[in-house]
Amino acid sequence: MPKNVFLTGRERTFHRDDVIVSKTDLKGRIIYANRVFLDVAGYTEKEVLGQPHSLIRHPEMPRCVFKLLWSTLEAGQEIFAYVVNRCKNGDHYWVYAHVTPSFDASGNIISYHSNRRVPDMAIVNEHIIPLYKMLLEEEQRHASRKDGMLASEQMVLGLLEQHGIAYDEFVATLGKAA
Ligand SMILES: Cc1cc2nc3c(=O)[nH]c(=O)nc-3n(C[C@H](O)[C@H](O)[C@H](O)COP(=O)(O)O)c2cc1C
Repeated sequence: MPKNVFLTGRERTFHRDDVIVSKTDLKGRIIYANRVFLDVAGYTEKEVLGQPHSLIRHPEMPRCVFKLLWSTLEAGQEIFAYVVNRCKNGDHYWVYAHVTPSFDASGNIISYHSNRRVPDMAIVNEHIIPLYKMLLEEEQRHASRKDGMLASEQMVLGLLEQHGIAYDEFVATLGKAA
């Protein structure tokens, strides 16, 4: 996705009882999106099906978060993550996502599934926005995307090590502190 996408700076929200759902194939192309997904992101079903999930990528999301997401999913594990997404018109919305691989009867990964709920915005504002800002700045300090992502990944690993905590514990702890 190009860096200079249009953003309005306006935040969208959705109902606390609603769940934004999408499913992707193994390459991250959207194969299902529920009504809430379409309404919040501002796309029709036709516009999203078959598209890469990065269609709704927000430029302020650090790359290393998606690297962690993909390596966790490809290892057959679930991941929880705070994500800011971009709507078709440039608005944005924060979610707390639970992303899982789906398996066939032989245990092979056949697709991926994400359920997203309204996050606790106190957590987002206090912990996630400053963390993502720091990671993004680190990524942008490097000429190549790859070097930037490796540097921000090291930054996350360093922070987790400093606090003696694994990524999933870190995310779960934020939820409990709410
Ligand atoms: C099930 C599933 C759901 C995803 N949901 C999102 C999402 O809501 N927003 C997003 O930006 N990326 C999402 N991704 C990650 C994208 O596939 C992609 O890695 C990310 O947008 C970064 O794209 P880029 O590497 O082209 O910059 C999802 C991936 C999977 C497998």
